[in-house]
Amino acid sequence: MQEIKEETLFKLVEEAGKALKNSYAPYSNIHVASAVLTNTGRVYLGVNVENASYGLTICAERSAISAMITNGDRKPVTIAIVTDLEEPLPPCGACRQVIAEFNPEATIIMYSARTGKYVIKNLRELLPSPFRFEK
Ligand code: THU
Repeated sequence: MQEIKEETLFKLVEEAGKALKNSYAPYSNIHVASAVLTNTGRVYLGVNVENASYGLTICAERSAISAMITNGDRKPVTIAIVTDLEEPLPPCGACRQVIAEFNPEATIIMYSARTGKYVIKNLRELLPSPFRFEK
């Protein structure tokens, strides 16, 4: 398991946990929130945003990464993904690729706010060969 300071874990899980109530998930009823800690020490939040046209749904992690870029940061170091499901939720493939664009070695915390169970992994384990565009 990836090494991470306890206070970082608590802070990110708490921040994402607070945002969870804002998740818009009337179709799946799976509420997800994400908190992205950057190399500059700032934290950006995101939630999943579903749509009546299901395929247009935006995941929580990609919402948080968009907030990070919008605010001028470029390097996610640790990312928490929080749900109220029984088991920690792993990031979908699209989110893995989007995070890898900015840091293929990011630490990913998957946390269940219902049970307190969590898993910590390096993105390298979750996505060993991200697509890179070499010019
Ligand atoms: N979801 C996320 O927000 N992040 C993931 O990495 C996986 C899935 C959301 C999308 C959708 O609103 C719901 O979970 C069910 O797929």
